Amino acid sequence: MELKELQEICEKCQKCPLCKTKTNTVFGVGAQNADIMFIGEAPGENEDLTGIPFVGKAGQLFDKYLEYLGISRENVYIANILKCRPPKNRDPQSDEQDACIPYLREQVRLIDPKLIVCLGRISALRIIKPDYKITSEHGTFVQKGKYVMTAVYHPSALLRDPKKKDDMLTDMEKIKEYAVKHGLKI
Ligand code: URA
Repeated sequence: MELKELQEICEKCQKCPLCKTKTNTVFGVGAQNADIMFIGEAPGENEDLTGIPFVGKAGQLFDKYLEYLGISRENVYIANILKCRPPKNRDPQSDEQDACIPYLREQVRLIDPKLIVCLGRISALRIIKPDYKITSEHGTFVQKGKYVMTAVYHPSALLRDPKKKDDMLTDMEKIKEYAVKHGLKI
């Protein structure tokens, strides 16, 4: 299967009720052969309207970190656990995650990144481990199966609590260092 085919399957998906309230499926953007894959939680309003992940306020803040570090959105891949927006931006429910996660797994398999970066607690809980503690474990790198993974604060958390921005910068700098050291495309 190719990414485009997977995207078409996601666009037709009816495995959970979010397909009834969404405007667009937010499949993911970036390079099909990206070395770094960022994974967020779920689309918000602006993502739902455009079909592109991380384009709202949180996404614009995230872009500033990428730009500051010289990481291009076109060279990495950005996706979410859920492909459809939960109403009123509530947290993704576990049944919605269960329905949608096979698409993300296939997306990861097709892209085959060398580093997975979870954006926020919900993504880290689902992808790294079910007892992940974002406040104490953010910015640490772990090997899980064939993938190296890390997590940073969700950009929305930085908007709510700007004190977290220093930690975010340190973590993103570590990601850049890791990429440079291992020759990852940025
Ligand atoms: N928050 C997310 O987790 N993902 C998006 O795409 C936008 C906001």
